[in-house]
Amino acid sequence: MADPAESTRETPAPRVVLITGGSKGIGRGIAIQLARAGYRVAATHRSGDVPEGVLGVRCDVTDPGEVEAAFRQVEAALAGGPHADDSRWLACALLHDIGKLAAGLGIPGRVLATLVGRATDGAVGDWEEYQGLRRRIALYLRHPEFGADMIQLAGGRVEVAHWARAHHDRARLDPSLLPASVVSALVAADND
Ligand SMILES: [Fe+2]
Ligand SMILES: [Fe+2]
Repeated sequence: MADPAESTRETPAPRVVLITGGSKGIGRGIAIQLARAGYRVAATHRSGDVPEGVLGVRCDVTDPGEVEAAFRQVEAALAGGPHADDSRWLACALLHDIGKLAAGLGIPGRVLATLVGRATDGAVGDWEEYQGLRRRIALYLRHPEFGADMIQLAGGRVEVAHWARAHHDRARLDPSLLPASVVSALVAADND
């Protein structure tokens, strides 16, 4: 039998909402309504802008489930701790790989680039001088620095740009910018 307390127990309101496709249509409408209702809203978009007060994540979401999973995982890992409710760390989870867009690769190309990067230990920098797939792979493997530059140019937070730059080379991490528990949560949620 169902616990009667169960049905009357209030579900806590979510603190953060991620909307995929927040620049137009119903996604934009929902983002506006939720932001007005006091939620902290992040929205992905490919073109156009997200509404005022919404954290925009410009990406071609070929796998929105993956982006959302990382976001939720970081939020859950930080919940109840000293770093909960800090949008910088959620932005780190969402934006750290944004530099991958510079390569213009689809999913198969990204997988290939990752494998090439592992097989060569990233030593394919001179492929940038080629055209076509080799150049795209070389650009993809430099996504941390491209991502950090993109975030900085867009006026993003210094902590977010720093995580984008250092997330594959954590010896570069500045502990004064990113607390160790935040780094652990971000690393655990990252699957590449
Ligand atoms: Fe990455
Ligand atoms: Fe990643």
